[in-house]
Amino acid sequence: MVNIQDVAERAGVSTATVSRVINNSGYVGEKTRRKVLEAISELGYSPNSAARSLRTKSTLIVALMIPDITNPFFPELVRGVDDTLTKAGYRLLLCNSDGDSKKEADILRALAEQRVDGLIFTPTQTNESTWEIIQRQTYPVVLLDRVTESLALDCVATDHYSGALKATKHLISLGHKRIAHISGPKDVRPSQERINGYCAALIQAGIPVDETLILTYDFTREAGRSAYNDLKALDKPPTAVFAANDLQAIGLIEQALKDGIDIPTELSVCGFDDIEYSTIVSPPLTTISQPKYELGAVAAELLLRRISNPEAEIRRIKLEPQLVKRGTTAKRKRPKSVGEYRSISEGKEVPGEAVQEG
Ligand code: RIB
Repeated sequence: MVNIQDVAERAGVSTATVSRVINNSGYVGEKTRRKVLEAISELGYSPNSAARSLRTKSTLIVALMIPDITNPFFPELVRGVDDTLTKAGYRLLLCNSDGDSKKEADILRALAEQRVDGLIFTPTQTNESTWEIIQRQTYPVVLLDRVTESLALDCVATDHYSGALKATKHLISLGHKRIAHISGPKDVRPSQERINGYCAALIQAGIPVDETLILTYDFTREAGRSAYNDLKALDKPPTAVFAANDLQAIGLIEQALKDGIDIPTELSVCGFDDIEYSTIVSPPLTTISQPKYELGAVAAELLLRRISNPEAEIRRIKLEPQLVKRGTTAKRKRPKSVGEYRSISEGKEVPGEAVQEG
């Protein structure tokens, strides 16, 4: 029985291209389209979906599993995946593990029964038990955002270390020396990479790493609020904070503003992700921008490549994040020293100009 692979080989193209021609979706050059149609005709291929899925075991369905459907970081990622798959004639099955490893394992089992053509996966945790389950999957898997080199899997992620280095160096350049870091969950690899980037920037600037300024929390606004209260309780609170994601940063700023703290002059804050809300909060958030749409699109391209060529060499891609300076970071404002006050006149103290430390 002729299948989609036979047509692809005859025409000298990938199965994804054949799918695009069959479904008349996405761009296919005229010459290539003609070659595919000739191959279909010569081989007598019937692209009936039921017959096709029996013959090729291809359902043209790809799953994407993310850990938190409520986090605004993920929608742009999903859009990049969905646009790329749709152009290739595939449909997206979106799954949400809700940060629950048991639910995640249940979904993985269900996907195997559904016979999806492949999975793009952002795991809840990047640990051995996750990788053991993934290795048992019978369909191609691409890791997205939270990756590992310990498995022979294609993957794409932002360079989290580089992003953290940029965020912390930016705060140091503004004169901050007591810089706190709110980390994400320890069992999520981007958290560890961001801690490493934060520490490296401090060490390169000759600033000792103070472990009491590194707090571990979830990637949520509530976590940011709690982190603010923890930092406020320190004997020497920080003058700047690098938060592991924008939701933490927004929660921390909310709590600081309630406390009457001036953002950014009394407390500067930098986030990570550059979610849509980062420009509408006040002041707008300085952050590290992840190329979210591109991350999703590249992950989908890697999976389509793997589906059409299972023997292709493994590809591990890192995308560079960018520092986006907005309104939540500024030069450290030091307390005015007595010399900065003008002489007292008429019983009133006339404060001097606020001095911004270099
Ligand atoms: O905001 C959620 C975080 O988890 C992002 O920084 C992303 O990198 C994901 O790993």
